Formats: sequence, C-alpha cells, structure tokens
Amino acid sequence: MGRKEAIKYEELTTRISAKELSTLLKVSSSLASTMDLAEILQIAIESATGLLGLETGAIYTLENGELYLGATTPPLPAQFSDELRFAKLSDHPHINEVVSTKAPIYLDDARKYPLSSAEKIAVDSRHLISILYFPLLLKEDVIGVFIVGTTDKTRLFAPNEMDLCYILSFQVSLAIANSLLYKKSQQSIVELSRAYEATLEGWSRVLDMRDHITEEHTRRVVELTVALASRMGIPASDLGHIRRGALMHDIGKMGIPDAILQKPGVLSDDEKKIMQTHPEKARDLLARIDYLTPAVDIPYCHHEKWDGSGYPRGLKGEAIPLPARIFAVIDVFDALTSDRPYRKAWKREEALDYIKNQSGKHFYPQAVGAFLEMIEA
Ligand code: C2E
Ligand code: SIN
Ligand code: SIN
Ligand code: FE
Repeated sequence: MGRKEAIKYEELTTRISAKELSTLLKVSSSLASTMDLAEILQIAIESATGLLGLETGAIYTLENGELYLGATTPPLPAQFSDELRFAKLSDHPHINEVVSTKAPIYLDDARKYPLSSAEKIAVDSRHLISILYFPLLLKEDVIGVFIVGTTDKTRLFAPNEMDLCYILSFQVSLAIANSLLYKKSQQSIVELSRAYEATLEGWSRVLDMRDHITEEHTRRVVELTVALASRMGIPASDLGHIRRGALMHDIGKMGIPDAILQKPGVLSDDEKKIMQTHPEKARDLLARIDYLTPAVDIPYCHHEKWDGSGYPRGLKGEAIPLPARIFAVIDVFDALTSDRPYRKAWKREEALDYIKNQSGKHFYPQAVGAFLEMIEA
C-alpha cells in the first residue's frame, strides 16, 4: 500500500500545466455556480475522474462519523435507495484511515489487499483495480473523501496528478461548505460571501505562483486600487467589486501557456496576440459566476487605453469603465517597478515619470493626478 505525504498548498502548481489549471478553474466556477449539494458532488467526482482520465469514482461526505455516498461516476442507478447511501466509517477501514491521517492512500491493485466486506462489495461492484483515496479537507476537518480508480489495469499516479487532486479537493471542500451554509437558512449573506472570498483568494494564490508573484505584492496592488477608487469618488458599496476585480485582474493568464507567460525575452507578434487574449479569457470565465459578474470590468478592460489604442476592444476615453481606467495606472506602475522574466524592475522615479508622460495617452488624466497625490501622501 502506498502512503502519500500531505503536500502544503503553497508548494503546489509548479508541476501543473496551463491547460490543467484552466480546466481546474472551469471546474471551480461550475462548483461555485450551484448551491445544490448533490449537483456539487456530481460535478466534483466527474471532474476528478475527467482530469485524471479515469473510469470510475465515488465521493462520500462525512458527518458525525457517518459516511454518505453523495455521487459516483458512472452515476448510481435511479432505483439505488437513499438508505444504501449511508455507511459506517468503521466498515470502511481505508476511508477511516484517510479520515484519521488526513492524507491520501493509494492501492496499486485492490485485489492484492485484505478488504472489509463492505469494501469488497464496493470494489467488486465497480470492478476497481488501482484506487486512490483522497481527503476533502476544510481547515483541519475531513468533511469527506473522494475515491477514484481504474477498472481495466493498474495505474500509478504522478506527482502533478496528486497536485491536481489537492487543488480539486480544496475547491470541492469549499463548495460543499458553501452549500451546507446555504442550507442552514439562518446563515447570513456575509458568511456566504466570506466562503466565496476564500475561493477567490485561493485562485489568486494559484495564479501568483505561476507568475512568481508574492501574496504581499498582490495584496498591495489590491489595496492601492481600492484606495485610489475611493479617492476618486467610487461609492463604498462598489468597492467590494473593485477589490475582487483587482484580485482577479489577470485571471485570464491562467489560459496562457508557460512558454509565453514565463518567456525570458520579448514576445513575438504571434505570442503577443495570444497574451492579449487574457482579458477576454477572464471575461468568459467570470461571466459564469453570478457573484463575480459585477467585478468583470477590471479583468476585461484593464488593458484598454484612454486614447483608444488598447485592447481587446480599443475602447476610448469614458467608454472605458471607470474601475478599469483607475486600475490601469496601478497595474502599469506595479509592473514597471517589479522584476519580470523579460526585464529588471525600473526605478520608482522612472516609473512615475512614465506614468506622468502617459497621462492622456495610455491613462485617464484624473486617475494619474489622484494617483500621484496618493503616492506622495
Ligand atoms: P505585466 O508584466 O503585468 O504588465 C502589465 C502592463 O504594464 C503591460 O501591458 C504594459 O502596459 C505595462 N508594462 C509592463 N512592462 C513594461 C515595460 O517594460 N515597458 C512599458 N512601456 N510598459 C510596460 P501589456 O504590454 O499589454 O502586457 C500584458 C502582459 O503581457 C504583461 O503583464 C506580461 O505578462 C506580458 N508581456 C508583455 N510584454 C512582454 C514581453 O516582452 N515578454 C514577456 N515574456 N511577456 C510580456
Ligand atoms: C470503499 O468503499 O472503501 C472503497 C470503494 C469505493 O466505495 O469506491
Ligand atoms: C493575480 O492575482 O491576478 C495576479 C496578480 C498580479 O499580477 O499582480
Ligand atoms: Fe493583464
């Protein structure tokens, strides 16, 4: 039996490709689009098997020591009675071990190992061979387990596949928690949005790691944006959307291959064209999540320029949403004063001169004025 060490969330994603990340992001947004637990569990297990290219999977939730078989793929027959979905933790020793160690278990070939009678029934009925048990962790608590496996041959799991499982399990746990909160109807909107915020923070961290950006750094960009927006008279009730928009501004880069995103040199015309699709990718992703629709202005429009020479739509002047006009100043100042794979950071004074020079060209003049005032204060 293979034991897998618990991996820290911070160590993830370096082994994951852009394509896998964008699939994960889509999974994450479908998970966030529903509050129905059965639906969440079905999406979760189908995503887990789909990402790993496996034939079969099952997902259990755990409450008060009792397991509940929430979903399987292929799906359970309609006549499968609800009663049969409940199981005792002690009847499933492998699941029990995952719950107590909070770490995954891998069986290369289930036929080789002693199984309890309940496990044997499950394994035989689904013709399982290699099995991976994965905990669903919410903070310190195991709130469920997902189990994926092969039915035709034995199979190993590569480190990047374990990473995918960790990220997926993190997202699924949050979705389950959201849905449980929602069901307890005394829960406030505030609690619900806090759970969403945690999902967003998680995604922002994943993105930053690919771009080699630190958490403190992103936080600063977000705080500066909110402060500038507030100075420029954006009402307090809109600042939450601005904050989320700034946090997610480059989420579209999720779909840009590493070879372009991390290229140490100047981009070719073709590469630039691909890079410049990131605002549209962001719009497509965020449009699927009601909660984030009002935050889409910054991700979608942050590369438009005041004089109309920006992308993706070449919007001009006040046709550019105000939050995006404000954010553009912060984004470029921040980009110029940071090291990039293709150049060293500029000095602060050089960056400020550039911003001043671009007032009325790249940037909305009032945003430049307010930014300079704020920076000096
Ligand atoms: P980013 O690095 O976060 O830069 C955001 C924006 O800051 C850029 O949007 C641009 O308006 C400004 N900016 C950044 N660096 C410079 C610079 O050295 N000089 C000037 N004048 N402006 C700068 P842009 O150009 O649309 O680029 C969007 C994203 O595309 C960049 O985000 C970066 O990830 C990527 N990118 C742009 N140029 C290159 C390049 O030559 N090589 C590589 N590997 N990536 C690039
Ligand atoms: C188990 O029940 O312990 C494993 C088999 C499964 O339900 O997928
Ligand atoms: C992001 O979290 O969306 C990227 C952060 C950044 O580029 O500053
Ligand atoms: Fe961008």
